[in-house]
Amino acid sequence: MPSTSELAIGVLRWVEYAGLIYLIGVFVVRRLGANTPRIAWARPPMELALGAALVGGLGVVVGQALVAGHSLSGAVTLLSGDAAGWVRVARVAAEGVALGLCLLGRRMVAPLALFAAASLAFAGHAAAQQQPAGPIFADAMHVLSAGVWAGGIMALATVRPPGGWSGEEGKAMLVRFGGVALIAFAITAMTGVLEASAGISYLSDLWTTPYGVVLGVKSAGVLVMVVLSVLAWRRGLGLVRFEAVVAVLVLAATAVLAATPIPPLTTDLSMNPVGVDIRH
Ligand code: HEM
Repeated sequence: MPSTSELAIGVLRWVEYAGLIYLIGVFVVRRLGANTPRIAWARPPMELALGAALVGGLGVVVGQALVAGHSLSGAVTLLSGDAAGWVRVARVAAEGVALGLCLLGRRMVAPLALFAAASLAFAGHAAAQQQPAGPIFADAMHVLSAGVWAGGIMALATVRPPGGWSGEEGKAMLVRFGGVALIAFAITAMTGVLEASAGISYLSDLWTTPYGVVLGVKSAGVLVMVVLSVLAWRRGLGLVRFEAVVAVLVLAATAVLAATPIPPLTTDLSMNPVGVDIRH
């Protein structure tokens, strides 16, 4: 059973993920809407998501440091003691400054939010690998591409095209987004599988370990999103809001995944790589 603090940190991580992933989607949708001919309504709001990213990020970073450091001074020592601590502090600072700039109507919100999203990779399982450079890069690419695809869907769910998604402008927006989303999905899937293969050593880990089971739940959610995306693109069926809800649930599964220990490499030599006992 997770403790109260682990639960609270998990929920805050989910809030931070949702805020940052949605924000990347907002930048994509606004950019696509600005192409000619301009789609004026394609301007999803950002303030609430920036607030969520900041509250979530601050809660996760402070909460984790307090739990690991056992006291306020221990937490400060942890966060200021090495590069990993400073990257966490920089992430929260970027989220705070981005919110301030947005409220003041200034520029530079996007680079700061993108930095915050990419730097999540320095605080997760990827950073704990023996040779972390490759896994951190893959994780950062995963978060950014998931932001373009899933975040784009979440951002589209907050706007109302005149005439709905089957109207002229609604359809045009879905077509513009479809091309970008396809590439982003491919990168998300490839990097996701890469990350999964770093965590799962044996096929049987998928059903015998908590990490594998949560990964399976997350993948099932992603599959539902893929089906809905294909329906939206090919048949013009704009179930955007439903798909956005599934994306938020996928992020909840991701928050659980990030808090679940990676299955250990078994030293049992009777097991082959597919996890089958070969003694008999
Ligand atoms: C295509 C199928 C996908 C697979 C196989 C996959 C797999 C993974 C894995 C294994 C991780 C590493 C978790 C860990 O051990 O810490 C991860 C992280 C993550 N994924 Fe996915 N994922 C997929 C799609 C998505 C989608 C659609 C989203 C967005 C809705 C998403 C958002 C994230 C986020 C935000 C992280 C956390 C990064 C971090 O904190 O470092 N993923 N994913």
